[in-house]
Amino acid sequence: MSETKPTILVTGGAGYIGSHAVLSLQKAGYDVIVFDNLSYGHPEIVKDVLNVELIIGDTKNRSLLDEIFSSRQIAAVMHFAAFIAVGESVQNPTIYYQNNVQGTLTLLEAMLAANINKLVFSSTCAIYGMPQEIPMTENHPNNPLSPYARSKYMVEQILQDFDKAYGLNSVVFRYFNASGADPSGNLGEDHTPETHLIPLALLTALKKRDNLFIFGTDYDTPDGTAVRDYIHVNDLASAHVLGLKYLLEGGKSDMFNLGNGNGFSVREVINTAKKVTGIDFLVKESDRRPGDPSMLVGSSQKAQSILGWQPQYSDLETIVNHAWQWHQKRHSHS
Ligand SMILES: NC(=O)c1ccc[n+]([C@@H]2O[C@H](COP(=O)([O-])OP(=O)(O)OC[C@H]3O[C@@H](n4cnc5c(N)ncnc54)[C@H](O)[C@@H]3O)[C@@H](O)[C@H]2O)c1
Repeated sequence: MSETKPTILVTGGAGYIGSHAVLSLQKAGYDVIVFDNLSYGHPEIVKDVLNVELIIGDTKNRSLLDEIFSSRQIAAVMHFAAFIAVGESVQNPTIYYQNNVQGTLTLLEAMLAANINKLVFSSTCAIYGMPQEIPMTENHPNNPLSPYARSKYMVEQILQDFDKAYGLNSVVFRYFNASGADPSGNLGEDHTPETHLIPLALLTALKKRDNLFIFGTDYDTPDGTAVRDYIHVNDLASAHVLGLKYLLEGGKSDMFNLGNGNGFSVREVINTAKKVTGIDFLVKESDRRPGDPSMLVGSSQKAQSILGWQPQYSDLETIVNHAWQWHQKRHSHS
């Protein structure tokens, strides 16, 4: 890379996936500024581990964004900032549409006013709804089933309209289940409340939780439990760096699935967590949750062929092992 390092604004960079993307951007030679309102983020990770500038602010704050964009040379924005809890979005859709849609709209308006026209956006496989085919490709029909998923789908549509009307170029990534942690053990998944299976299993192994629930054991899958596609967070991060490079080199707007391509069942994840930790924790079986599909597995061929992306950590044991390194370190004093 040339001496002038492009500066990238990373919204939500104090969160799980954003912080890993910041690390990958740094390794690829970019300058990074993190923009996060700390509603869920971890400032100590940004300051002490990533050692980059943290601007505490909200994507709905237009005047702050204007000030940042007019006082810095920002080449592109990576936009991770969002609320992410599907169940909460059903109970309280207002805050999901305000934060995820209105916040993004404000960000986009501020970008356009400052002539910044490149955005990498975090979307989700949840925009597809119930799978009609496995693996799911980008051509799968869209049927988002929750306010959270609809908030992401709405932003995708806004991005298409903004490209046509204003020339805003975007790469949209639809993630399957983000998982794992940086192998250093210095970054990892720390959501409150936690709803994701791998951290829940590891927190149960660490006795931070009494037991782990399996929701549904009568699915039409090899062991009766639901199958999901777990994609290592560092593989997500490397795709973001490639997506950014693609945009900076003049690539046109596009959307890409990011998944591992392999499905793992809930029981496989639990057994792997027990093997990796060496701890036999308590597991309880419960009924299916309404709306949970039996199987969600994505095809990421498009990202591989257009962006040259190649996931490095597709193996479940590696994913769980990296997450375990982080959880042990994170909870060593608590
Ligand atoms: N975790 C997954 O499996 C997954 C799957 C699909 C998509 N995604 C998407 O990836 C992105 C990152 O998810 P994550 O798991 O890292 O979540 P996270 O909660 O760890 O990170 C989100 C960050 O955004 C910040 N934030 C939220 N609203 C903000 C606002 N209005 N202004 C400024 N900062 C704000 C939070 O403080 C937090 O640091 C989200 O957009 C999410 O929808 C995540």
